[in-house]
Amino acid sequence: MKKKIALIFGITGQDGSYLAELLIKKNYIVHGVKRRSSSPNTERIDHIFDSVNFQSKNIFLHYGDLSDVTSLYSIIYKTNPDEIYNLAAQSHVKISATIPEYTANITGLGSLRILEIIRFYKKKKIKFYQASSSEMFGSSKPPQSETTTFSPCSIYAISKIFSFHTVKYYRDAYKIHACNGILFNHESPRRGVNFVTKKIINGLLRIKKKKQKILFLGNLDATRDWGHAKEYVESMWKILQAPIPRDYVVGTGKSYSVKQFLNKTAKQLGIKIIYKGKGLNQIGVDAKTNKVIIKVSKKYFREKEVDNLRANSNKIKKYLNWKPKTSIDHLISDMIKNEL
Ligand code: NAP
Ligand code: GDD
Repeated sequence: MKKKIALIFGITGQDGSYLAELLIKKNYIVHGVKRRSSSPNTERIDHIFDSVNFQSKNIFLHYGDLSDVTSLYSIIYKTNPDEIYNLAAQSHVKISATIPEYTANITGLGSLRILEIIRFYKKKKIKFYQASSSEMFGSSKPPQSETTTFSPCSIYAISKIFSFHTVKYYRDAYKIHACNGILFNHESPRRGVNFVTKKIINGLLRIKKKKQKILFLGNLDATRDWGHAKEYVESMWKILQAPIPRDYVVGTGKSYSVKQFLNKTAKQLGIKIIYKGKGLNQIGVDAKTNKVIIKVSKKYFREKEVDNLRANSNKIKKYLNWKPKTSIDHLISDMIKNEL
């Protein structure tokens, strides 16, 4: 049988790397787009090329950038994909306040550029997956589902909403098989170091090894619905295989505060934290050593906080039989094990 061809924008990121592995296992030919960088940016996928088990002959990388339509055009024509997964983005919410125009250009307009090429593509019908985000719900109350109103609290969220509606518009107006996966936070050993879960795990490990004294964090009260990236990429694939293109919310349905994540991680590392003070003056003391190991810093607060995210994923459970399997404690232990 002829192999399907997938093209992944964002293959060097957390999700892109797991999706590439999944699609290779499913016997796809996988093409990925990497950006030019002054230092290596392929460490999350290098093992795929090194491993015979992953059939490295079925994966190819191309230089490109979502801001450069000439590169998008030539990569799509060269690779002739059956499915395009757009996971590329400036994906950091806090940083989107510092580079708003860049974020809007990549995270917002990037999807439009790809969809325009798909619209005029003559060789075959290409299916399109867009990495939408629970951040779009912003200040809307949990649980959030496909029918919840978007109330964005960041330029990142606003850019993702632009992409979300662009996908719906191209689906309705031009009958393109285009879908949004509205994914809630998902983490893994491959998570970027400046997202809170990875920062907590790295920080507490370094404190335990006496390589760091204090871990500075922002809002400890915000709650998130955290799942495992490895199983969330399976939902992306399932969403594109469904005969009718639709948008789906993907999450665990359980939420925990940043402080709870911190305490769970500490517990697994044999650290007990005693909290003192409130708000910006809150500190966390190591019960054994009596030393301050956690401090709250204004620097890590958002311009506008998203307080509570928790998914209602009934639609994807019902229609695509996808459900999460990894508990938060297993997610943490997987991340710790890998770091060790
Ligand atoms: P990530 O680790 O930050 O990966 C982002 C990817 O986009 C990287 O491969 C990055 O390349 C690439 N990229 C950035 N700017 C680009 C540009 N101008 N042109 C081409 N590629 C560019 O993010 P992730 O956690 O895997 O998330 C994947 C997608 O899902 C993102 O769109 C994110 O916004 C969205 N999302 C994530 C979550 C989550 O919790 N992880 C939840 C909902 C939605 P470099 O490696 O060169 O930087
Ligand atoms: N990054 C970070 N650093 N966040 C902190 C810190 C800190 O030191 N201290 C507290 N937080 C809080 C943030 O204010 C936020 O409420 C929560 O921890 C999670 O922050 P991040 O891990 O940075 O993730 P995010 O929820 O803002 O965004 C992620 O999830 C979105 C889906 O909801 C990213 O992966 C986005 O790309 C994704 O769309």
